[in-house]
Amino acid sequence: MAVRQVLRLGEPLLLEKALTITQFDTPELHALIEDLQDTMQAMNGAGIAAPQIGVSLQVAIFGVDKNPRYPDAEQVPYTVLINPTLRPIGDEIEDGWEGCLSVPGMRGVVPRYARLHYTGFDQYGNAIDRLVSGFHARVVQHECDHLNGILYPMRIADLSQFGFTDVLFPDQDIQDD
Ligand code: NI
Repeated sequence: MAVRQVLRLGEPLLLEKALTITQFDTPELHALIEDLQDTMQAMNGAGIAAPQIGVSLQVAIFGVDKNPRYPDAEQVPYTVLINPTLRPIGDEIEDGWEGCLSVPGMRGVVPRYARLHYTGFDQYGNAIDRLVSGFHARVVQHECDHLNGILYPMRIADLSQFGFTDVLFPDQDIQDD
């Protein structure tokens, strides 16, 4: 469909709680997901949430094959996740670097739950129910935060580990978002 403009940090809509989807398998929902896919691919993102393209609905997509933005990252299956719920398993927290299409050119270390049970629906209304850990768990937490009006800089515990990607990682060819 179309690559959409991504809203950047500072935009009030990014701080809103997104509305629940009540009807699945509609032309409008499929069109939204196509736009999210096109935009995520064009920007080499690991995930994107509907509020980032200005649509305040509980829809996110994510997936990591081999991604130049995350050269060492584990693979994450491509997933459309709607109306998600997250429940941490245990209280183990892991630190890891994150970036965000709405915070271009920057990275920060964010503490996240290491293990997670998440549920939700795909665009056809099929239930999703997964136990995940590691990078998959991190990506889900990041995207679901977007649906609750939270951006990763708001989660950084140590702001000395937040900065511009090309300054933090001068020797790595990480694409500037
Ligand atoms: Ni993001």
